[in-house]
Amino acid sequence: MSTTQPFAVILAAGRGTRMKSTLAKVLHPLVGIPMVAHVVNAARSAGLVPVLVVNHQQEAVRAAFAGSDTLFVTQKSTRGTGDAVASALEVLPESGTVVIMSGDAPLVQAKTVEALLAAHGTAAVTVLTVQLDDGAHYGRLERDASGEPVRIVEAGEASAEQRRITEINAGLYCFDIAWLRTVLPTLLPHAPKDEVYLTDTLERAATEGRARVVVHSDFEEVAGVNDRFELATARGVLQARIIEVHGRAGVDFLSPGTVVVEQDVVIGPDVSISAGVVLEGDTTIGEGSIIGPHCHLIDANIHAGVVVHSHSVIHCAVVHPGASIGPFARLRPQAIVCEGARVGNFVEMKKSTLGPGAKVSHLAYIGDAMVGEGANIGAGTITCNYDGIKKSQTTIGAGAFIGSNSALVAPINIGPGAIVGAGSVITKDVPANAVSIARGSQNNIEGAAERFRSRAKIK
Ligand code: UD1
Ligand code: CA
Repeated sequence: MSTTQPFAVILAAGRGTRMKSTLAKVLHPLVGIPMVAHVVNAARSAGLVPVLVVNHQQEAVRAAFAGSDTLFVTQKSTRGTGDAVASALEVLPESGTVVIMSGDAPLVQAKTVEALLAAHGTAAVTVLTVQLDDGAHYGRLERDASGEPVRIVEAGEASAEQRRITEINAGLYCFDIAWLRTVLPTLLPHAPKDEVYLTDTLERAATEGRARVVVHSDFEEVAGVNDRFELATARGVLQARIIEVHGRAGVDFLSPGTVVVEQDVVIGPDVSISAGVVLEGDTTIGEGSIIGPHCHLIDANIHAGVVVHSHSVIHCAVVHPGASIGPFARLRPQAIVCEGARVGNFVEMKKSTLGPGAKVSHLAYIGDAMVGEGANIGAGTITCNYDGIKKSQTTIGAGAFIGSNSALVAPINIGPGAIVGAGSVITKDVPANAVSIARGSQNNIEGAAERFRSRAKIK
């Protein structure tokens, strides 16, 4: 017996024609990671070293696992599941046990793989099956009168009677590697595509009395993804699992059926997630924060006690404790909102820091700016950070007050405690505690409105 970890060969070379997609089937995203990554994760959790069999779009499949301990073998031409496993033999030890998994069965869990391994014993092949009233496109497991397994028949080649069999092949197997080495080269290809079926090994093992079957109770877990409807169904199942994990850890979902929470999102206890919220990538949300309806967070870092009001979009930005965002706010990459600060409706921030307790409450653009503690940015303020050629910085000192509808033309410094009059176009630095007004001066002409109207009547 080898003391090294056993391998899981994951079949991921097929094109996936039924997906009707330019993207290889196994790369389709499912709750934030490619479909096949779920299979790789399950294999790893079961203590196995994943070996991916690749061909179609193999550069992209390999790239998806760059830097991980996943091994790859190329299946030269995709001539069926039996041929795929044959191409992986070169990286397997001479003997021992190997697990075979399908790259298109992303819902399989580690504990099911472990149970299959535990049942395998001295069998040549152990296959997982499940009962399904309508066997659909799955291979059927035929048994003899005494209930012993006989063979697996593919749906497309089954007789009407075989098609009525309700026990289907889940596509998850354990094999005796030495046995597999002798049997795979002897399998005959099936017309019309000349494919070699891994499933044909079962009949061989059965004649030797070395075929074993583990009947699984949950079809949902082993369902294959062959088209976009099955992809959507799998997504629903994975999403429900993710929400269960968070829910048990203290996260409150007000409308769990309407949210998207990707795999790697981290959510603290006592967080409330409203309807229609989408949480993607490496988003983290700290304890007690509230995410209002229809917010979209991508790689966002939300600290504890933050309120994100409805319809806000936060991408690669950091929000510190006690801050308030939205409704209808947009935080773009490198926006940092410090403790207790407030970003209100229709405000966009990019590559900017809003200091502790500072406020930008309405209709503003803050780009390439440092806003000091307690500063107040009036409605309609724009940091003019781009002159058509390059980006420039704006700094606004602590406690400064920027009147509504001001344009701050960068590069520019507004000193601490300074006041900028509403409607100003500021092109020169404003010293600390100065008042700066830069707009056309107002001219009131007494009685002129009367005269204007009477002239209009005469005409
Ligand atoms: C396969 C089984 C079927 C089982 C079902 C479970 C065979 C012949 N049939 O059918 O009994 O009920 O899975 O989901 O095995 N692949 C390769 N190289 C190839 C062909 C396929 O790597 O040359 C990969 C595919 O990328 C896919 C997996 O193997 O991830 C299964 O192939 P697929 O064509 O989807 O097989 P099914 O028709 O679903
Ligand atoms: Ca399949």
